[in-house]
Amino acid sequence: MRTAEIKRRFLAHFEANEHIVVPSAATPADDPNLLFVNAGMVPFKPYLLGQVTPPYRRAVSVQKCIRTPDIDEVGKTTRHGTFFQMNGNFSFGDYFKQGAIRYAWSLLTSPVSDGGLGIDPDRIWVTSFIDEIEAVDIWHREIGLPMERIVRRGKADNFWSMGVPGPCGPCSEIFVDRGPQYGRSGGPDVDEDRYLEVWNLVFMQYERGPGSGKADYPILGELPARNIDTGMGLERMAALLQSVDNIYEIDEIKPILDHAAGLTGRRYGAYSGHVAADSHPDDVRLRVVADHVRTALMVIADGVTPSNEGRGYVLRRIIRRAVRAMRLLGFNDPALPQLLPVARDCMAPSYPEVAADFDRIASYAYGEEEAFRATLRQGTTMLDLAVAETKAAGGSVLAGDKVFQLHDTYGFPVDLTLEIAAEQGLQIDAEGFQRLMADQRRRAKADAQARKAGHADTSAYRAVLDAHGPVTFTGYVQTSREARLRALLGPHGQLAGATEGDEVTLVLDSTPFYAEGGGQQPDNGVITVGDGRVEIFDVQQPLPGLIVHRGRVVAGEVRSGADAFAEIDMRRRRAISRSHTATHLVHQTMRNVLGETATQAGSLNAPGRLRFDFNTPGAVPPSVLADVEQQVNEVLLTDLEVRAFVTDQAQARRLGAIALFGEKYGDAVRVVEVGDYARELCGGTHVARSAQLGLVKFVHESSVGSGLRRVEALVGMDAFDFLAREHLLLGRLAELYRVPADQVLDRVRQTVTQLRDVERELEKLRSDLVRANTAGLGAAAREVAGARFVGAPAPDGATGNDVRTLAQEICATLPGDRPGLVAMAGRAGDKASLVVVVNRAGVERGLNAAELVKTALGGRGGGSSALAQGGGVPAGQTPQLLASIERLVGDKLANG
Ligand code: ALA
Repeated sequence: MRTAEIKRRFLAHFEANEHIVVPSAATPADDPNLLFVNAGMVPFKPYLLGQVTPPYRRAVSVQKCIRTPDIDEVGKTTRHGTFFQMNGNFSFGDYFKQGAIRYAWSLLTSPVSDGGLGIDPDRIWVTSFIDEIEAVDIWHREIGLPMERIVRRGKADNFWSMGVPGPCGPCSEIFVDRGPQYGRSGGPDVDEDRYLEVWNLVFMQYERGPGSGKADYPILGELPARNIDTGMGLERMAALLQSVDNIYEIDEIKPILDHAAGLTGRRYGAYSGHVAADSHPDDVRLRVVADHVRTALMVIADGVTPSNEGRGYVLRRIIRRAVRAMRLLGFNDPALPQLLPVARDCMAPSYPEVAADFDRIASYAYGEEEAFRATLRQGTTMLDLAVAETKAAGGSVLAGDKVFQLHDTYGFPVDLTLEIAAEQGLQIDAEGFQRLMADQRRRAKADAQARKAGHADTSAYRAVLDAHGPVTFTGYVQTSREARLRALLGPHGQLAGATEGDEVTLVLDSTPFYAEGGGQQPDNGVITVGDGRVEIFDVQQPLPGLIVHRGRVVAGEVRSGADAFAEIDMRRRRAISRSHTATHLVHQTMRNVLGETATQAGSLNAPGRLRFDFNTPGAVPPSVLADVEQQVNEVLLTDLEVRAFVTDQAQARRLGAIALFGEKYGDAVRVVEVGDYARELCGGTHVARSAQLGLVKFVHESSVGSGLRRVEALVGMDAFDFLAREHLLLGRLAELYRVPADQVLDRVRQTVTQLRDVERELEKLRSDLVRANTAGLGAAAREVAGARFVGAPAPDGATGNDVRTLAQEICATLPGDRPGLVAMAGRAGDKASLVVVVNRAGVERGLNAAELVKTALGGRGGGSSALAQGGGVPAGQTPQLLASIERLVGDKLANG
């Protein structure tokens, strides 16, 4: 049964049982604790936790997931994929264990002709949490599964959570026995390749706190409702129903693997035993390639681009691993242009966007491969050197600082260093490397923190939020308001009061102050509390719903609980709002000009200036930027009305609003529109009409990462001031050159050319002069022990270069059939400099320029036997230097 058909049957089965079909969310997770969606339930987390009332009580989805903690297992087992699809059915306070088990059982075991998956009930095993009574009872009594095929396991195996704080609960996993050819009998405890886990039923009823590993975390309490979350690995089910050994051989992946095998000339499976566990390393590599290429395709399709942190780094690592696996298989040409189209063809039937958007996806993938190939060329040389040094010194561990240097200076990924070192029989000093990385991170963090508000420890904030509830933001319409000071915090927690000079954090019940967020800088202003006056310099939102103001008490005294008056700095707010509206216009115009893929990747809206990062494969030509700038300014002149309104996600999408942060089901969203020109989901503040921006001027465009560009622009008076300054500057230049402004450029060009000619002329005159001064020096050579010897002071004003050339020229005039030598001593500042040139006959007689210079200068110099120079002794010693060279030459020829 094809993968797409399994997916269709799954959705149909649950839809027939009153589940709402919900489309997959994008893989980047909308959750600060998580980079990628790693399970079908992630988009439903707020419903499971009871934070948001679900719009339906039953749902079914096929969710795209990324999991990389087991990345090293990929290709080695039958069942680990970095990208996979999770079929899941969900109950939010509706059915519980019995319903979940019944629905799963009927889909698995119903005959194929009835829309089921047709799995023989006798091949099914289940596991259950050790303390479980109810589920075991249902499996045994109601379903009729014999007790021998119900296995009990502890928290690490049968208690599921996302690995981070959130909902959790005991689970029951369903396994299918693939038969003796896949391994030993005895159930999942004995062999998880033979007994393949296909479906996990989680009975979500608790909330967990932070902690590590699969079992080491606290249970914080019960969830508001008892929910069901299930996950059936679509690829695993496909492997089972297609009777192939492992997930890499299913219809959605195998074509990539086959193509890779063709390119590398390897025959997949040629050497293997029957199951993946016995595979030859080449087979493992081919599976890694197939898995990773598909993952890269899907992740880039979801808007992630390669970078050095977060999701971008996961993607980068996946692409690099795929490229490297191809190299290890002997394929050294660019691999992705060959493989990515195959992955596209595999996935497009289920995800048409990978075909529609393929050009963009491909440009990132191919660009990353190219960049990596360049890194490999550089880094491999460095690494080879480090490996050779380590081995030569008899070591078996590559030093941490070497690994760090490769990483830090050459961008060589540490996992790759590890792999290559291992191939060479070396380990790496991971601890030393981690220490250096931690140092570096600490420095960066200390830096960032110094600029941020308040407590790193959020517990004080949590207490305030729990005690008083969320803060109301009224700043879209108000710029000042009366409020109550709910809490006052100092560096060590809550305070009753504060006085002049204290730096404090204030929490009000309502505030017009905008907290930094969505790229928009915070408001500044003043909060008065009784006779106390606090100047606010930062506003943050450390927890959802909690706005905190940081400021300094500049007069009087403030007391927690008292009445307050909050007033923002309007000038600053207006300037920031102008930047924010300008950012929307720039974003929309970039998309108009460069295409839909020029999406925003980050922004800064500060008073009078903005920074806008966006995705695009190459540099943006200046003419295109000029075009964008002009279009933006034209929009300003049409004086469009800027409007903000709240609506639901579906309506926003119908209106064509640009949404950047993935889908959220049914959430209310705020849309900001500038006339009909730009429409975007946004929580920031804006001007009322586009003409209020005045002027937008681009001042800089640069690269900030692979496929990522940045434009910086000035807005309003800042843009005007900038242009006025430039204009003034041009005026001054025109004055200086005494030409009209439009001729300044020509005049500057002319001047530069003239200057270059004059310099060349001067240079020539100077060396002519030097030569004229020294003409005849060759003729004045003296006889020293049968050699011709010239010892002379260097001419005044001659550079080191001049002296060398001069000495060589003089030496060339000495007779070639006899030893000849020229020594020239000059000065460089208050130090002496010395050049010695020996002709060929002299070298043959044993004269060595380098030795002579070194001996005369006590070691300070060097060169070859024919030409050497040195210096460093006081300038007054030049006559002695020449004398000592003459003596040394005499000694050498007489004795040697
Ligand atoms: N959320 C459960 C899992 O991922 C179903 O296994």
